[in-house]
Amino acid sequence: MIEGCADYELFYHIVLQKSRFSIAKENINCYNYDEHKNRGMPVINLKALINEICSLVKECGKVILNADRDKMAIDIKSGVADLVTEYDKNIQEQLAVGLKRILPEAKFIGEEGANDELTESGYAFVVDPIDGTTNFIKDYHMSAISVALLKGKSVVAGVVYNPYLDEIFYAIKGGGAFCNGKKISVSSKPLSNGLVLFGSVPYNKELFPETLEILSEYYYKALDIRRGGSAALDLCYVACGRAELYFELLVSPWDFAAGKLLVEEAGGVVTTFDGEQLSFDGKTSILAKNNVI
Ligand code: IPD
Ligand code: CA
Ligand code: CA
Repeated sequence: MIEGCADYELFYHIVLQKSRFSIAKENINCYNYDEHKNRGMPVINLKALINEICSLVKECGKVILNADRDKMAIDIKSGVADLVTEYDKNIQEQLAVGLKRILPEAKFIGEEGANDELTESGYAFVVDPIDGTTNFIKDYHMSAISVALLKGKSVVAGVVYNPYLDEIFYAIKGGGAFCNGKKISVSSKPLSNGLVLFGSVPYNKELFPETLEILSEYYYKALDIRRGGSAALDLCYVACGRAELYFELLVSPWDFAAGKLLVEEAGGVVTTFDGEQLSFDGKTSILAKNNVI
């Protein structure tokens, strides 16, 4: 369960939106209630927001499970390996409509186009309707729906749902990270006892030789390596200690936005591959790990 949030302004904004729909009394939280009351702010349990996002992505997960892969329309985007199906577009549309209902003032940025711009301080949802589209097309059962809520350039809430395993990962800034209601944390194992996950930069194959060089170094230092095919789930697996490190030399904000918060709230560290702060303004490298590596 989500237990708290450091972002008071977020509380405030959500309450303003909710109050337009006359929010049920039991949804009003008493967490930090006195502090907020003293500041003249109504308070809502952020769990309510996360719960609404979780319900929405779970609903969208049914689209993945019920898809007719034999008949589905598949288009090529930037190159032969970069594919989009009618289901990616359909889920993005459902998310756009549903998230607008949850927080109307938030901008919307999704992988499949028609995007708003990120602003310096406003709210924005950054979503990947299906992270792991190739896995989805192949029926590989390793894909996820990823939804992050940003305030300015900082992620304040994140949800990643794998419908095949019915596993829902979620986090709120300052409130910890959870999987199916249980608190999760990164592992405390060193690289020598760790699994290394990597992304094979399928849409930027020119970066694969460098990826292999880095991977080779990790391979000899770690227990083993894995390539799952969903950056969002790779990050969640580091967050819950199933793996110790994940890297990829080029990913987009919708691939990592929610997962980044999951790892950080689970006690891990997420940067570019060179150790710099991640930017949401465009493609970037990524390195996520537990706090002992
Ligand atoms: C891709 C997956 C993959 C990663 C790529 C991503 P998509 O997302 O996360 O694991 O290697 O870099 O673009 O295209 O399936 O949403
Ligand atoms: Ca993706
Ligand atoms: Ca995608």
